[in-house]
Amino acid sequence: MRRKLAAGNWKMNGTRASLGEARAIADAHPDLALDLLLCPPATLLSAAHDLLADTSVLLGAQDCHCENSGAHTGDLSAPMLADVGARAVIVGHSERRENHEETSELVRAKARAAHDAGLMAVICLGESLAQREAANTLDIIAGQLSTSVPDTATGENTVIAYEPIWAIGTGLTASTAQIGEVHDFIRARLERRFGSGVGLSIRLLYGGSVKPANAAEIFAVPNVDGALVGGASLTQADFSPIVQALEASS
Ligand code: PGA
Repeated sequence: MRRKLAAGNWKMNGTRASLGEARAIADAHPDLALDLLLCPPATLLSAAHDLLADTSVLLGAQDCHCENSGAHTGDLSAPMLADVGARAVIVGHSERRENHEETSELVRAKARAAHDAGLMAVICLGESLAQREAANTLDIIAGQLSTSVPDTATGENTVIAYEPIWAIGTGLTASTAQIGEVHDFIRARLERRFGSGVGLSIRLLYGGSVKPANAAEIFAVPNVDGALVGGASLTQADFSPIVQALEASS
């Protein structure tokens, strides 16, 4: 059975004053039968690592460079993130693909760098509204999936997050039928490529306006192993009910 995963993506939000929320989230869930991952901005990783060392919360970064070191001003490598306590890194988030023109080839190289550094790669995929309206969703997902996921993927080092771009930060959530269709499709593709051992062990997260009010119905969808949560992961008051809904889902 796949262990469920609740992941919070703080994006470009949070200063040291926000670490109290991270601690509150950890303290609200001392004894979890699922994985809890928080991805604050990289500036907070070191302090968050110290603050949460006695908790079961895993820390992740939001991006990494595909090389380990070198002349890349402003970038951070996967070994650097591991060095300050990150256990995971998000790669290929649609905001990176759009704002930084990241291709699926680059996302694969970043995921590979994460694997080599011992980090779990949370690889994001998702279609735009125009692509969905043109009935291209599954083609887009198939292309992003096959190119963005490296051959080194296993159930331990890789998580796939399906995040329809039109649902991120908009308050629009994909319907359970839409989520189920894409998650079943991703699962079948992973099994076909990696075999059922690895293909069935890679966790699939849904992301895009997951809130306390809609979490339970999303977690009831087959092949949804958790969520990647943006806005609602910034406070314990919003994130805890989502974590509880995931724990309560069968
Ligand atoms: P949201 O963001 O929950 O604020 O929609 C999700 C994400 O982008 O990971």
